[in-house]
Amino acid sequence: MTDDALVIFTPSGKRGRVALGTSVLQAARQLGVDLDSVCGGRGICSKCQIAPGFGEFAKHGLTVAEDALSPVNAVEERYDRVRGLKPGRRLGCQACIQGDVVLDVPPESQVHKQVIRKSATERVMEMDPASRLYYVEVAEPDMHDPSSDFDRLAAALESQWQISGLEADLSVLRKVQPVLRKGGWKVTLAVSQDGYATRLIDLWPGLREAPLYGLAIDLGSTTIAGHLVALDDGRVLASSGLMNPQIRFGEDLMSRVSYVMMNPGGDAEMTRVVREGLNTLAGVLASEAGISGPEIVEVVVVCNPVMHHLLLGIDPVELGQAPFALATGQALNFAARELDLHALNPAARTYILPLIAGHVGADAAAVALSEAPELREDLSLVVDVGTNAEILLGNSTQVLACSSPTGPAFEGAQISSGQRAAPGAIERIEIDPVTKEPRFRVIGSDLWSDEPGFAEATASTGVTGICGSGIIEAVAEMRMAGILDASGLIGSAEQVGSERCQATGRTHEYVLQEADASGAARISVTQGDIRAIQLAKSALYAGARLLMDQMGVEKVDRVVLAGAFGAHISPKHAMVLGMIPDVPLAAVTSAGNAAGTGARMALCSRLARRGIERQVHHIHKVETAIEPKFQEHFVAANAIPHASDPFPELARIVTLPEVSFNANGGGAEGGGGRRRRRG
Ligand code: FES
Repeated sequence: MTDDALVIFTPSGKRGRVALGTSVLQAARQLGVDLDSVCGGRGICSKCQIAPGFGEFAKHGLTVAEDALSPVNAVEERYDRVRGLKPGRRLGCQACIQGDVVLDVPPESQVHKQVIRKSATERVMEMDPASRLYYVEVAEPDMHDPSSDFDRLAAALESQWQISGLEADLSVLRKVQPVLRKGGWKVTLAVSQDGYATRLIDLWPGLREAPLYGLAIDLGSTTIAGHLVALDDGRVLASSGLMNPQIRFGEDLMSRVSYVMMNPGGDAEMTRVVREGLNTLAGVLASEAGISGPEIVEVVVVCNPVMHHLLLGIDPVELGQAPFALATGQALNFAARELDLHALNPAARTYILPLIAGHVGADAAAVALSEAPELREDLSLVVDVGTNAEILLGNSTQVLACSSPTGPAFEGAQISSGQRAAPGAIERIEIDPVTKEPRFRVIGSDLWSDEPGFAEATASTGVTGICGSGIIEAVAEMRMAGILDASGLIGSAEQVGSERCQATGRTHEYVLQEADASGAARISVTQGDIRAIQLAKSALYAGARLLMDQMGVEKVDRVVLAGAFGAHISPKHAMVLGMIPDVPLAAVTSAGNAAGTGARMALCSRLARRGIERQVHHIHKVETAIEPKFQEHFVAANAIPHASDPFPELARIVTLPEVSFNANGGGAEGGGGRRRRRG
């Protein structure tokens, strides 16, 4: 009879011999198995649950006897009675090893839970947040021991969790005495270990059962998107967004920088409003998730360099002129209160991803973190579509990045009938190439506008405008239906053969919906809208081409569309428009909001933070603003889909009508009227 036993943990497969009588939690620690615990083995947090297996395990050459673990004890019985334990589960800190055994650690009991990220390339992320909960029992004060309550609390953390060097802000020091006494010297600590310091963020009497929460913020020029994330398993509890309140100072980045140049103190004003916006968003997310603001202990922000400097209260004027010097581009880690984020825990921490260069920001770094083109052999082009497009091109040998000023058209701004993606906004459009009649779908209903029940289904929202993905489809469908020519001109009613093409001044517009007595809005695509989309898509394409030039390639293997609405962009329509280089349609995928995903990864994983901090040094930045070739590519990309680049893959699936509506009265070629019209 031996006095130790073989223990095999699944799914990790870790195994080893431990002394009989060792608790499963201790055995896990000895063998380096990832088994969670907040209460430190006191039988109250239930984080350490495991599922023992009994009987024959041929794979392991092991037979596990019924008494391989000690019988259920009083602590487990009580826990089961009060809170309930799933059948077959034991508390790892209570069950002791009495013989050879196979123990399964369910996902929810793992500290470093693996979270499968659903993206273009499904990847696994490991939970490794900077802030965690620790339950401690603190020694009571003693006349003969002059140590402070905080000293004894720090000593408890060190002796019970081997975490030393605890520091605390004044805001949390004020709470230490009342909470210790309220909890009867038993408290749960929120401790942040971000690689720089070990800080006490907050504490609660007794055992805190709820997890800690964090915010992942994608701070864009036009919109601010936020996710509220549980820091124990990475689940998103609420997502929301708002318009960046800085818009009133300028639609795009450069106009905001000029506002600062022309208005002394303008930067401080913009800093104030964006911080207010973040506080509003934090409040909305907390209330949506049913938690209180102070439970949010971490916030990760990704943004472009101008947004970055304005958020931090740094004057961005240097970013408005060559050589586009950043004040700092390093990853930053500091107290959230320095950003006036008072809607969060007063001791909450902020992490800002590193910037790549003067025009290529932390948002691009977040996309690089999320999409990791450097992990693939094939050549990926990742475009994050927003007011400023972040573009990455790379494979395992090299990754290039640039940023291109597309303007807000893709987000539905500067479009006559444009609106944010919200219920009532047109998001899908089809135009019949023969009748030139449109049908569409709006956010909030699955029905097409020509299907029965559409009017009833949209009665509450109405059909109010066109969102970003809708305008891309509208322009592409107009091109495919011969309403729009390759130069981007909308034809007249006679040229096109549809009364929906109506003259407005010297140009034409295509009317999707007429206003009516019931209050329906008039929705059309104007020549100005087409121009705005052409400028935006040319900037995007030119940026991609510039990176391809630098890499010396004529084509890419795959395209990943990212961005807040990247997931909604139809690859076919994006290609008809010439937003992206020609690739087989199946090689175009959507990654959703990749910058936001990168922010979430950095929120949930210190490893991810360290990874991107290293990776940014290997990303080669290309500055679109000073590359003469950019302008050349931009001009050539103005045509739909392109003036000179061939699109053979697109030609396989779509035949674009050869029409021309130029002002010289060319009329439609190959059909339609040939009457001369005054421009
Ligand atoms: S470690 Fe908390 S219940 Fe077992």
